[in-house]
Amino acid sequence: MLQLLVKSTEITEIKYLMDNEQDQLAPKSLELVHKLKQKYEATGQDMNTYLEGLYHATYLSYWDYINLDTLLTLQQPKTSFPDERTFIIYHQITELFFQLIRNSLEQISETENLTAEYFTKQLNRAINYLEHLKNSFSIMFDGMDREQFLTFRTSLTPASGFQSAQYRIIEIYSTDVFFLVQKDLRGSFIIEDAPEKLMDFLYWRRGAVEMESLKKTFTLRQFEEKYLPSLLQVANEYRDKNLRQKWLKMPEAERWNPDLVAAMRRFDHLANVEWPLVHFRTATRYLDRKPQELAATGGTNWKEYMQPKNQQVTYYPELWSEVEEQSWGKNVTKEQIGI
Ligand code: HEM
Repeated sequence: MLQLLVKSTEITEIKYLMDNEQDQLAPKSLELVHKLKQKYEATGQDMNTYLEGLYHATYLSYWDYINLDTLLTLQQPKTSFPDERTFIIYHQITELFFQLIRNSLEQISETENLTAEYFTKQLNRAINYLEHLKNSFSIMFDGMDREQFLTFRTSLTPASGFQSAQYRIIEIYSTDVFFLVQKDLRGSFIIEDAPEKLMDFLYWRRGAVEMESLKKTFTLRQFEEKYLPSLLQVANEYRDKNLRQKWLKMPEAERWNPDLVAAMRRFDHLANVEWPLVHFRTATRYLDRKPQELAATGGTNWKEYMQPKNQQVTYYPELWSEVEEQSWGKNVTKEQIGI
């Protein structure tokens, strides 16, 4: 009996030890708890409240994390033509890619003591996104029934992709506002002029005029009313840290790094020739009805306006030879852009 009692005490003791052992926090966990305590104490808060919150919190799911249910409700067609959904979704995809491009460009602009290696790495990411946009434009070119498109587009007037604020922000991030001024007006200004002085003469504000009256289109006026103040703010913010300025401020040896120069040329050509051309050729496929083209929903003289050779926008003119500049937007083959 006594023997049995001893045994049972021993078992209890061992069990106590084992339970205690399991309760011990591993050194790594202790270190984290300690760090957390410091973190919350630094702002006068109680760590335990946070730990309790963590204990009660539900597990994160994929669908909540990316807001999937909301994302899939963001398509609101104006008509019952199925291809209108394609049109909306592809515009949304493009805007998300624009956001990715901004993310890369912002990281270049925010970096002090920029190296050619880092500049090139981030710019190559932006190039990758633009390549995807260029290559996927076939979703617009081939992916909609022309008759459906020509019918549902009438319900979208006066909205136009022209009103994409992110497209304009990418331009402002990429270069000095001076280079976005309509080419034949640039002679009246200098690169250092303040954005306030230059913004009235941007190529897209001059280009978006009505075919007949040459007055600003309603689409442009609406866009200006909503976004012009914030675009001016971005232009001022990026006056000294747009990509061209960041590049000019680099030490000479870094600035002329061949990989960086190649990336800047590629980015410039994709943004100002290849994507605009794929876009223009798509517009032509849908809207060019001989003998007379159809009016765009934005109401511009689109056939003249949209062509890169007419817009003559180049972010980094110093990286192109005179011959290259003169042939800007010309002689681009189907192989180069896929359309
Ligand atoms: C079938 C497809 C498309 C057609 C027919 C088309 C047509 C046009 C036209 C005619 C314009 C000139 C402005 C106007 O009068 O509306 C324009 C401008 C514009 N569109 Fe599209 N578009 C298409 C798809 C897209 C997509 C998917 C995007 C992506 C966001 C987009 C973004 C833009 C932008 C940013 C402009 C202004 C370009 C500039 O200022 O140079 N478009 N589009």
